[in-house]
Formats: sequence, structure tokens, C-alpha cells
Amino acid sequence: MQTVTLHDKTFELFIAENAIQQSISALAVQINADYAGKNPLFLGILNGSFLFAADLFRQIEGNAEISFLKMASYQGTATTGKISELIGLNEDISNRHVIIIEDIVDTGITLEKIINDLIAKQPASIAIATLLFKPAAYQKNIPVNYVGMEVGNDFLVGYGLDYDGLGRNLKEIYKLKA
Ligand code: IMP
Ligand code: MG
Repeated sequence: MQTVTLHDKTFELFIAENAIQQSISALAVQINADYAGKNPLFLGILNGSFLFAADLFRQIEGNAEISFLKMASYQGTATTGKISELIGLNEDISNRHVIIIEDIVDTGITLEKIINDLIAKQPASIAIATLLFKPAAYQKNIPVNYVGMEVGNDFLVGYGLDYDGLGRNLKEIYKLKA
């Protein structure tokens, strides 16, 4: 599909399925090298990261664990800036090597809140893996360790990303048509 309509908006094809999968494979190679023998704990941030988390985790070698956390900051196509609380962390992360899995890092407001909450629980280390990163929108100084692809300031849907609930099941990533 070259374009897709969700609710009242039209989106055009932006990143093909094979390009998404290639960038995930490249991330897995780096993470496998950096975390060999460390039994990392991956923490996927729901809802958006669930497909990326699954495809990335499938390519992680050796002992590794995964769990999921939930928060929300978006309504429609603009960030609300209001962050709800981190829910669902059942694991003891003290002395664990934690890798946060995000679908997309935009302003970084969500990420900063998550990182601060997790640091308080004294993990051995924290890294961030995101499929997509919007450098022009990023407002924070926290390093984003593993980036699949850098993108511009467009609103994107597909492969887990939604526009008011729709679009997550698209295999490709689409951008809002101007
Ligand atoms: P941030 O707090 O501004 O970095 O926003 C992070 C969250 O907003 C992501 O985890 C997504 O859930 C959502 N988000 C940011 N940009 C987009 C986008 O282009 N499309 C869909 N959701 C987005
Ligand atoms: Mg998200």
C-alpha cells in the first residue's frame, strides 16, 4: 500500500518492511556484542514497542529476559507533555543490566521519566534501544544508545505506532501526508 487512511488523516509509505527488519538486525548485532554473558533485562514500553520488542528479542542470543511497562504521553498527533505513571514493573532490577525498548523517541519526556524511575531502583546499568529517533524534536541530554533509524519531525504510524489507536498492525511505517 502506498497510502493509508486512518480516522480523518492520510499517511504515505515511508519505511518499507525490509528496511525496518534490516535495522533491527543491525541493532541486535550490536546488542549481542555489548551484552554477551550479561543476561540483560529488556523492558519494552507499551503499547507502541510491542512489535519491535518481539522482533528484536527474537534475535538476542544467550540468556536474556524481557518484561513490559506502560505509560502514555500522546493524544492525537501532539504530545500532551503530561506523563502518567510507570506501571507493571514486577521484576527486581537492582544489579541488572536493563535495556529499555522504545518504538520512538520524540521529545524525550517519556524516556526521562522512565529512566528516573528506573535509576531509583539501582540497576547495574541502563541503556535505551529505540527503533526510531527524532533528533530535531529531542529536548533531553540522556544518550540514546541504540537507534534503529533517525527520522524527521513527521508524525508516523505503523509497526506498533498508532494514530488514536489505529495503524499499529501495518507492517511498514507511514508518515502523515502534508
Ligand atoms: P516523547 O515523550 O515526546 O519522546 O514521546 C514518546 C512517545 O510518544 C512514543 O513512545 C510514542 O508512543 C509517541 N510518539 C512520538 N512520536 C510519535 C509518532 O510520530 N507517531 C506515533 N506516536 C508517537
Ligand atoms: Mg511509546
